[in-house]
Amino acid sequence: MTPISSRPAGAMRAKPATTLSGTIKAPGDKSISHRAFILGGLANGVTEITGLLESDDVINSGRAAAALGATVMHLGPGRWQVTGTGGRFQTPAEALDFGNAGTGVRLMMGAVAGTGASAEFIGDESLSSRPMRRVTDPLGEMGARFSTTDGRLPAQLDGGPLKAIRYTPPIASAQVKSAVLLAALGASGTTIVHEPQITRDHTETMLRAFGVALDVVRDGAATTVSLTGPQTLTACPVDVPGDPSSSAFAIVAALIVPGSDITLEGVMDNPARTGLIDTLREMGADITLTSGPDMAGEKTTHIRVRHSRLSGITVPAERAPSMIDEYPVLCVAAAFAHGVTHMPGLEELRAKESDRLAGSAALLRANGVPVEEGEDSLAVTGLGIGGVPGGGTTLTHHDHRLAMSGLVIGLGAQTPSSVDDVAMIATSYPDFFTHVETLGGTLEPIA
Ligand code: S3P
Repeated sequence: MTPISSRPAGAMRAKPATTLSGTIKAPGDKSISHRAFILGGLANGVTEITGLLESDDVINSGRAAAALGATVMHLGPGRWQVTGTGGRFQTPAEALDFGNAGTGVRLMMGAVAGTGASAEFIGDESLSSRPMRRVTDPLGEMGARFSTTDGRLPAQLDGGPLKAIRYTPPIASAQVKSAVLLAALGASGTTIVHEPQITRDHTETMLRAFGVALDVVRDGAATTVSLTGPQTLTACPVDVPGDPSSSAFAIVAALIVPGSDITLEGVMDNPARTGLIDTLREMGADITLTSGPDMAGEKTTHIRVRHSRLSGITVPAERAPSMIDEYPVLCVAAAFAHGVTHMPGLEELRAKESDRLAGSAALLRANGVPVEEGEDSLAVTGLGIGGVPGGGTTLTHHDHRLAMSGLVIGLGAQTPSSVDDVAMIATSYPDFFTHVETLGGTLEPIA
């Protein structure tokens, strides 16, 4: 493993941009990068990874895999090699620290439980305030013995044998589904996860690529995944496609800055992740998609975005799982639209790295945009292109997506917008700063 290099931190402002143009390669997908380290750590043999997102969150998953007995080597930019444990994780000497990453800790809880190892799981202030029972409850039903701190981290797992369960997660969550499926690898019997609403299916796709037999049955909006344990993974190469959630920031920036015309190359095109593109197109966005190569079992696309006149719409609540991380920056697009954008079904936003529903509303208010915040909804009154005053400071609450959204709004506003701290951007998109600059935007540290 290599140490995480230093990244920008502290307050920063984005200046109104004249126009954005150019082409950038989308950063590696965070979900797939976490899974590459976790599945590679579980597998028999050597997993070669290319295009890995080298963000703090993902590196913490790699460190955890190493502490659990895998050999994790950095070969070059985005290139990693994981020599797996063949399903035999060792009990680590120290607590596994996942920093800010909900995906890393929740998936690894399932993976470690499935191997019968013991471990302590810890994280930063934000992660330590997030709910873990959604994962420890079903894993507990399988026989895993977790003790948490009031349902939160730190959590201790005392290893032991697991048995299969039938489970219907009460919330639409790929993290919960994935934790149960990863634990099922080491449980005796057939575990069945029934999802009333489809969530991202990267765990299922990648498990198959690692040689695991599992059954997926789709029935309208629902999915049932069955996996019979025990099974051991066989290492396979992972070429990580671009991240649609990180790409969202440049997409929205190009839409709101007059004259813009940008292209993002190699973005993963998976129906469980494309809700934002569908939504922006319904709002009137000029977005053209051209097919790219398949990567890690996923389709990819090159996305061309031109500045557009947007109109407010109602975003269907059932679309939320396919764009759950994109709402803060959708709020920014909505601020520049004509008319009101209604976003119902957002209760899960309150359980993210911060309360993103409140944080997004505060971001808009700080920059002069009218917004109504409901218990599980937002309604943004758009001010049109050129109509957003800006000038506010977004409080990021250790949340990378609020930080990037708070800067993107400034690129299209009348006056610069600030955020209190950009440090957390390194958890998901360390190249954000250079990408904004490449496209012609200006970000300035505030002394
Ligand atoms: C993720 C699932 C989503 C998403 C997160 C990544 C994953 O979380 O918000 O950024 O990789 O499985 P939930 O499962 O909590 O919705």
